[in-house]
Amino acid sequence: MNSRHVPITDELQKYLLNVGVREDSLLARLRDETLAMRFGHMQVSPEQGQFLAFLVDLLGVKSILEIGVFTGYSSLCMARALPEDGVLLGLDNQKKFTDIAQAYWQEAGVDNKIELKLCDALAEINRLRKKAPNFDMIFLDADKERYPAYYEACLAILKPGGLLVVDNVLWYGNVAKASVTEPITEAIRFVNETIVTDKRVEMVMLPFSDGMTLVKKKLQQ
Ligand SMILES: C[S@@+](CC[C@H](N)C(=O)[O-])C[C@H]1O[C@@H](n2cnc3c(N)ncnc32)[C@H](O)[C@@H]1O
Repeated sequence: MNSRHVPITDELQKYLLNVGVREDSLLARLRDETLAMRFGHMQVSPEQGQFLAFLVDLLGVKSILEIGVFTGYSSLCMARALPEDGVLLGLDNQKKFTDIAQAYWQEAGVDNKIELKLCDALAEINRLRKKAPNFDMIFLDADKERYPAYYEACLAILKPGGLLVVDNVLWYGNVAKASVTEPITEAIRFVNETIVTDKRVEMVMLPFSDGMTLVKKKLQQ
């Protein structure tokens, strides 16, 4: 058993990126362009992007819902890992961001696998709930204050055995600080506490980047 936790210093993060991540020039260009923008920090880290792609490939995922496309880094990673007949439905409400995403999807030759919908994501998911559950994987990365509502709605539209990935579950470390009670931190705390006690799912919380929880919907509910 190893109970030693290695703090991720800037030096160690640099090492991790050097030997743990295979980011090609297209992804690096998108990351740099995004980082130069206001809110650029919202994109997933390169190691998260690679991890998402790895999961898509490993699990043979064919249908993905992404909640929060932004400039497209995570969707590009996942779409590339999808098979030719795979589909990613991306939801966002800011065209100025998704215009950038679409340009990169096109350049990467994955735009044929991606359907983009500009909308309020929660309203759209609640609309999708009326149909049979049909996503193999969902990546939840938007509108944190309403995470509790998204969690329930996502479980409803996820296939049995499917995977929900919830980003930012550590919220800059604020979830562990009792003095922080602003709405997003409270919403994320609520979802974290819901997931760990939810008998409908298997789960693992990963402390990398800003924290990511993997939630598998059990086959039998
Ligand atoms: C954290 S960013 C997503 C980052 C993206 N996954 C990536 O790795 O580049 C969150 C995105 O969610 C979008 N968003 C926020 N609230 C939303 C809502 N209610 N409906 C749809 N999109 C929303 C924002 O416009 C933003 O682009």
